[in-house]
Amino acid sequence: MKAQALVTGASSGIGRIYATAWAARGHDLVLVARREERLREVAAELGEKYGVAAEVVVADLRGEDDRSRVAERAVGCGILVNNAGFSGYGAFAEIAASVAADLVGVHILATLAITRAALPGMLASGQGVIVNVASGLAFSGSADPALLPGRATYSAAKSFVVTFSRVLAGEVGGRGVTVQALCPGRTATEIHDEPPRDYEMSAEDVVAASLAALETGELVCLPGLEDISLVAQLGAVERSLLAGNNRSQLADRYLGGEAR
Ligand SMILES: NC(=O)c1ccc[n+]([C@@H]2O[C@H](COP(=O)([O-])OP(=O)(O)OC[C@H]3O[C@@H](n4cnc5c(N)ncnc54)[C@H](OP(=O)(O)O)[C@@H]3O)[C@@H](O)[C@H]2O)c1
Repeated sequence: MKAQALVTGASSGIGRIYATAWAARGHDLVLVARREERLREVAAELGEKYGVAAEVVVADLRGEDDRSRVAERAVGCGILVNNAGFSGYGAFAEIAASVAADLVGVHILATLAITRAALPGMLASGQGVIVNVASGLAFSGSADPALLPGRATYSAAKSFVVTFSRVLAGEVGGRGVTVQALCPGRTATEIHDEPPRDYEMSAEDVVAASLAALETGELVCLPGLEDISLVAQLGAVERSLLAGNNRSQLADRYLGGEAR
């Protein structure tokens, strides 16, 4: 029997396209989001077109009770797409504290709870797929804030998702579970309330890249990036930072003034 695929944020955008892609491959679905009507529409369409069973789980992943309920449902699923998200942009000194907390809840805590619940079963069966939808903004820490304003919490949440996925992939490596951090650039979906940009990618292309990267075992998938050697270079720089910082002496630049 084919693995069940649980997709969060399946009511629109990238999540809806993932649901379609897994259904087209014959996988039964568990579709999660808040908008029940939309989910039922997706479930009916995919059930009819591909003959798969599509279960709807209405849940608001900002809340712990709903996260736990979805996590319980994730037990036994062989494919997870942790995709639900919203932008919550705004200057950090001005956004409601609850928006920052909700971003953490939906992007981070839901991903952790759902993955934690499903992973033991995947490891026991020796197969599984976990796609965590991050963003190119995970790599925006050095970007000009004037060009990308109001994204501190969102970008940091996506960095969490990338690092979590990379370290988890190392932890479960060789045990049949494939982990991917999908890092789309700007994608044409409902998440944006501004006009479309000319460099937007379609959600269909983003998901096509993710599925191709699952085949090749590419852990960090950047759908628009031509030069994939940059990811290896990033890894090399990180390892230099990590190793160079672990020593008993202060770096020379801190040995000035009174410390000297
Ligand atoms: N579009 C881009 O440019 C872009 C770029 C990089 C990364 N991403 C990431 O891609 C993922 C999908 O976003 P999208 O672009 O496809 O946007 P979208 O069309 O707005 O889809 C977001 C999905 O998340 C669900 N969702 C939002 N808040 C939720 C909550 N509290 N509880 C449960 N579900 C919730 C929405 O469903 P309901 O409203 O029905 O709950 C919807 O299905 C997100 O993680 C986003 O950060 C997007």
